[in-house]
Amino acid sequence: MTFRPPKGTDDILPPESLRWRRLLQIWDDITARYGYELVMTPIFENTEVFARAIGEATEVVQKQMFTWEDKGGRSMTMRPESTAAVVRAYLNAGRRGIFKGAHSGPMFRYEQPQAGRRRQFFQVSAEYLGTDSPEADVEVIELGHRYYSEVGIDGVEVQLNSIGDSESRAAYRQVLAEYLEPKRAELCEDCQKRMDQNPLRVLDCKVDGPKLTNAPAPVDHLNTESAEHFDAVKAGMERAGIGYIDDPRLVRGLDYYTKTVFEYTVPTYDAAQSSLGGGGRYDGLAEQLGGPTVPAVGFSLGLDRIVLALGDADEEPALDVFVVVAGDRTNALGAMRLLRQRGLRVDSLPAPASVKAQFKAADRRNAAAVLVVGEGLADGAMTVRRLSDGHEETMTLEEVAAWVTS
Ligand code: HAM
Repeated sequence: MTFRPPKGTDDILPPESLRWRRLLQIWDDITARYGYELVMTPIFENTEVFARAIGEATEVVQKQMFTWEDKGGRSMTMRPESTAAVVRAYLNAGRRGIFKGAHSGPMFRYEQPQAGRRRQFFQVSAEYLGTDSPEADVEVIELGHRYYSEVGIDGVEVQLNSIGDSESRAAYRQVLAEYLEPKRAELCEDCQKRMDQNPLRVLDCKVDGPKLTNAPAPVDHLNTESAEHFDAVKAGMERAGIGYIDDPRLVRGLDYYTKTVFEYTVPTYDAAQSSLGGGGRYDGLAEQLGGPTVPAVGFSLGLDRIVLALGDADEEPALDVFVVVAGDRTNALGAMRLLRQRGLRVDSLPAPASVKAQFKAADRRNAAAVLVVGEGLADGAMTVRRLSDGHEETMTLEEVAAWVTS
């Protein structure tokens, strides 16, 4: 008997995992280049952290959290997102001022599973804490945008909006409540409750949201400071050469946002997967979690959706050299050790294996080249075959390292 992974979760094995490894390597590299430091937090938190940060009236908190009571009677929740956790960690460490954090890992939301909508999914996130400068908003948006282009997804659009600071939001909330009140009876049961908790959440309800096309837009109710901030972000985006689409209806599904909100979309994809990532400014979140005011902005990108978006695009070889042992194993193992020390990705089959089986394995592993190590040749020369075109050359081990890397 065998077991399947739980509903809405996936096992990721080669060849698909080759793509995952590459996505994570590019993520590590790009965040280092932009000065974001690694931060890791637990995979579960006290439920209160998410309830306060994400908001009681949100779909995520109301319907999608994996919550349980631990043996000590405390309510725990598998993280449905990690921004709240990173801010909690920053506050708990007694940090103040600027902190640029890169974090990644599996998140958990109880969803109706489909392609690109999983119960366990993987996010990479960047958070820029400790500044309300519009430059931070632009840097963060640029970083996400650049990541898509480096992993090979073209045509990603930035949908951009501002929902204003807390003062603008309070004014807008009033206007929205007045607009919604006469429609109360037509709204779904959840939205009738949301109207009293946070009417903004009615706009992203899957049932009612699409019907409310002429609802007032937050961007039309910004106070001077929020409007100036938004203008500065847009000007910065233009200077950075990043195109964006004004989307006055974009509010995002989490309560912690203030001012800038954005989403990365690919218009040709299915609606369920079209949001490849999203984020925004959250100047009030640290206070919400009991800390001082810490203005901040960040985003999270869904790797499951990026993998889907990449489709079956040809992968680069996963190995530089596959060593075929045609004679003495000691020579072959020594050769492998040296090539690995030179930074090449090298593998072989364990003994005993026929030469034919070893060549088959080289193909299966999608190696760039095969190195045949025979009986101790006096001059140390070996045969290397490039697998893409069958081209063969005889050379020394040091030459092999140089040949493959070139
Ligand atoms: P979010 O929009 O909830 O934002 O999620 C960001 C991305 O995670 C989505 O655009 C999508 O690609 C992916 N995602 C979300 N749910 C699922 C799912 N069930 N299955 C597969 N992929 C999914 C956040 O999580 C915020 N923490 C973003 C942020 C960071 N804001 C500020 N800093």
